[in-house]
Amino acid sequence: MSTASLSHRAADPRPDETLRFLRASVTAVCNLNCVYCPKDAGMENHVPAGLRGQRLPTAAYLRAMAAIAQTGVVGGIAFTGGEPTLNPDLPMLVAAARGWYRRVELTTNGRMLPERLPEIAEHLDVIKVSLDAADRGLSHAIMRGQRADHDRALDAIRLALRAGLTVGVNVVVMRRNLPQIAAVIRTVADLHAEADTGTAYVSLLDLYYTPSTRRLWLQEFVPLDALAGRLADELGDGVEQHRKGCVIRWFSYGGVQIRVKDSHESTYRGERCRTCTRYCQEGFYGLKLSVEGWLTPCPTGAEHLGVHLAAGLDDAGLAERIAPLAKELTATTATPDSFQRFLTSNDITLDESGRRTLLPLTVLPGIAS
Ligand SMILES: C[S@@+](CC[C@H](N)C(=O)[O-])C[C@H]1O[C@@H](n2cnc3c(N)ncnc32)[C@H](O)[C@@H]1O
Ligand code: SF4
Repeated sequence: MSTASLSHRAADPRPDETLRFLRASVTAVCNLNCVYCPKDAGMENHVPAGLRGQRLPTAAYLRAMAAIAQTGVVGGIAFTGGEPTLNPDLPMLVAAARGWYRRVELTTNGRMLPERLPEIAEHLDVIKVSLDAADRGLSHAIMRGQRADHDRALDAIRLALRAGLTVGVNVVVMRRNLPQIAAVIRTVADLHAEADTGTAYVSLLDLYYTPSTRRLWLQEFVPLDALAGRLADELGDGVEQHRKGCVIRWFSYGGVQIRVKDSHESTYRGERCRTCTRYCQEGFYGLKLSVEGWLTPCPTGAEHLGVHLAAGLDDAGLAERIAPLAKELTATTATPDSFQRFLTSNDITLDESGRRTLLPLTVLPGIAS
């Protein structure tokens, strides 16, 4: 199938505010080495050390995906990794997900997407491509791959738009790429205009902290509420979306939507992790399934918070293990002080210099209202 000929309904970039996601990590390896990405913590493949590397057979992974959908508590699925396009069974996993989940998303660095897209496009609602700068040199310095990787990411965005998909471009905001944000937005607007189909948005992500990336975080963190304020000055107030206790602001520029999640707002947490001091701005939005079959709401491999959906379990066994986590997801509440608790417990004083960094910045010069 040619992706150029695919006629696809473009999903709204904003998922229904009540929708929870399964973040399905389908590989623990990656073909890039981005500066901010916690490889030692498994990137987004969260699993206790004792299980790491014990990959589930694809048939067992599929049964776990189906059993999680059957709880009715998680309606969307987002494929991630490592780099999910490195899993040769990705087309099978994505096609199966289409039958069980209302919304199917994939996050990728785009490097392999030109080869992969024809097999998966028709099953996807949203594809998220990571691109941290419009400048090739800076982009390369952040992802630490080959120089061609930047162009591969642009090709991925172009092809996904041409396939009629909703394409989100993920930008991890740091001090070093802050001056590039306007250029990324313009690049995406140009690619969208050129494709003349599909839907494009840019997602500005806050840099999350892990112990191994502490130094980088202290140097590079930018509070996104300040950035949202700056965008509002230039693009108008935008639209506010409340999702599981978090505020997400949406702006619009040149046919492209811009998504900013407030990094200081409260997160949704369950009873067991209300006082946790880890950086967890995600909260209990959903569940995460590692390639080893570890199911957890937690962005760490904490053993007491997850369950192992081992290959030998029958349907009843799977349902029994998943049920308490699914129930917990429905009983989460906002925890407004989670970011402050993280700062205090890690002995970090946010000196507001991140905000000052923003002051001279015009995010989108020339269009300020
Ligand atoms: C872990 S990656 C996995 C999927 C794929 N390899 C990719 O890069 O798109 C998923 C997303 O997390 C983002 N990410 C990784 N480390 C991060 C960090 N420390 N803070 C914020 N986002 C991060 C990446 O930029 C990417 O958009
Ligand atoms: S491409 Fe994705 S998984 Fe790989 S290092 Fe970068 S952010 Fe991490």
